[in-house]
Amino acid sequence: MNLRAHHLPWNSAGNVADNDLTADDVVRETGWVFNNETGDELTLKAFVETGDKEVQRYIRLLQLEKFQFENSTLLEIGSGIGRMTSSFTNRCRAVIAADVDSAFLERCRQTVARFGRIDRLSTLHVANGKTLGRADKSVDMTFSYITLQHCQPQDALNLVSEAIRVTRSGGLIVLNFRTWVASDVVLVPLGIAVRRLWKMPVLGRRLARWRWSTRLGWQANRLKPDTVLQDFESQLREIKIFHSVKRKLAVATSRENSVQTIPTNRINPSHWWLVAQVS
Ligand SMILES: C[S@@+](CC[C@H](N)C(=O)[O-])C[C@H]1O[C@@H](n2cnc3c(N)ncnc32)[C@H](O)[C@@H]1O
Repeated sequence: MNLRAHHLPWNSAGNVADNDLTADDVVRETGWVFNNETGDELTLKAFVETGDKEVQRYIRLLQLEKFQFENSTLLEIGSGIGRMTSSFTNRCRAVIAADVDSAFLERCRQTVARFGRIDRLSTLHVANGKTLGRADKSVDMTFSYITLQHCQPQDALNLVSEAIRVTRSGGLIVLNFRTWVASDVVLVPLGIAVRRLWKMPVLGRRLARWRWSTRLGWQANRLKPDTVLQDFESQLREIKIFHSVKRKLAVATSRENSVQTIPTNRINPSHWWLVAQVS
């Protein structure tokens, strides 16, 4: 069993998903860990629709319309129970759903069987939270949404390195990160405290199931574009950083010629995206 504190909310939700529940019940019990929606009326169908809308939105916002999804293999880091994965299987030749929780991957297969193309799906358990067990240059796009922020900083950077390794030359990485906002002055120390509590015997596991504690403790890093680019810029080209129009998100002046920063509507002010071709 993986006992790293920042994996506990996923293990807890995964344990619920592992029970003999209907797919709609799994969404009612655990769906909020993926799209922050709660309620007794939730259904898997509506949940998958939120994923499909977000896939469409990010294809548009991140200027991915020309990417040939229909001829491509896409790897999704942090697929969860398949909220966006179903949509990707309807668009791509093949999709690899990767997640740190194996029960989520089983549910992901069931979700895709109902709403996507199961014949195009394979799954990949990221058991250690930082390496992708796939051959070099074996996919055309590596995509990740609201997942890297939940990893320890070094694991997140390792997953970026892995995303670049498994994506073919000329293929794309499309990765979502969280960076600093003013409220982090309070949220970061609270998050550290909550993750410490999660390590307590018995009570810790219970706490990691509660929404308030999960939401406080699960964002295990904030990464700035420069922090990510300093390690990986040399392996990438046509680098674009998309961020909210509501804030400035600068890159170092030494990078201003090689990196395009694109203020964009409808991106959360705490989020940014790295979209780049692998060299
Ligand atoms: C907030 S959910 C987002 C899921 C999905 N991208 C979506 O939008 O519905 C984050 C997902 O990342 C997974 N995850 C967290 N840390 C991970 C890691 N180190 N490697 C792979 N998956 C991870 C969790 O199990 C969870 O399914």
